[in-house]
Amino acid sequence: MNKILVTGGAGYIGSHTVVELINAGFKPVIVDNFSNSHTSVLQALESITKAQIPCYSIDCTDYHSLKEVFEKEKNIEGVIHFAAFKAVGESVRFPLKYYHNNIGSLVSLLRVMEEFNINPFVFSSSCTVYGEPETLPVTEAIPRSKVESPYGNTKKISEEIIEDYARQSDIQAVILRYFNPIGAHPSSAIGELPIGVPSNLVPFITQTAAGIREKLTIFGGDYDTPDGTCIRDYIHVVDLAKAHVRALEYIQKSTNTGFSELFNVGTGNGNSVMELVKTFLEVTGEPLNYEIGPRRPGDVEKIWSEVRKSREILDWTAQYSLKEALLHAWNWQKTLK
Ligand code: UD1
Repeated sequence: MNKILVTGGAGYIGSHTVVELINAGFKPVIVDNFSNSHTSVLQALESITKAQIPCYSIDCTDYHSLKEVFEKEKNIEGVIHFAAFKAVGESVRFPLKYYHNNIGSLVSLLRVMEEFNINPFVFSSSCTVYGEPETLPVTEAIPRSKVESPYGNTKKISEEIIEDYARQSDIQAVILRYFNPIGAHPSSAIGELPIGVPSNLVPFITQTAAGIREKLTIFGGDYDTPDGTCIRDYIHVVDLAKAHVRALEYIQKSTNTGFSELFNVGTGNGNSVMELVKTFLEVTGEPLNYEIGPRRPGDVEKIWSEVRKSREILDWTAQYSLKEALLHAWNWQKTLK
């Protein structure tokens, strides 16, 4: 397995994965519609990797254009599918936009893969499929719960589509359930590029410290957690990217076909929003204007991963610390000024 199609390869997680694929000897081919990414990422990728990376500016819901990419590139041997919309609040306002894009692109892609007899498939899912968990840490064996947003539902439905399809096809699917990706490449050449006001915590912190936002509001200080703020499992994006390489290597070693395997991709540790803020202050020495405000509707109180399955089967564990992730996020933010 050598040439890998990476949909959404110019995006935040996609771009970091392209770097790790090249480091591991794979040849990524990017497909991206640049709806939530910038073409400048392509030059940055080439400067980090010193490789020429083919890129097609197409929309993955477009079956015919996708097919042309597979025809043109000829020997694509596996697919990593990142391309999706991911803003929870926007998905509540525009559910059809989310169902059309996130489900439509998955189905088009699987149809083209079937036509070209390509089986290895890695899919970006989310810990959002666990909802508000009853037991912690969450293991992959816990059934999918009712999710709070159309965005989350597209991830849940996508997992179900892949599982149904795996029962009737030769696909070799690995579904990675990401916890909260943060940080940036240590080179500061690529990182998260939120368009408009960020909804995720770490870009909001770094933009506030950079003076772009006036103040960070911590959503809720009265949760049933040690300091009253929500708990998440924050994973460095480079560690997360490496999990995709491990997933492909796992598929490569597998002699089975027609399977779909789920893996959590987190650190196994929970950190509160307040801990993140304090760690950011400590590692950067920057002032940060923040206040505790009301809860954000739909937020889960606490969630973190059990990572035994990823460790034992994918031979993958997170390497970077929270401090390193926040420092890399800050170093990246400083390049954007
Ligand atoms: C959620 C989903 C995740 C999904 C992501 C997409 C869960 C558990 N997680 O992440 O799967 O991929 O959306 O965007 O459903 N916060 C503040 N102030 C801010 C921003 C955030 O206090 O300005 C807090 C939130 O309340 C939360 C934490 O920071 O407790 C992380 O929030 P965020 O970065 O938005 O990610 P999730 O909502 O956890």
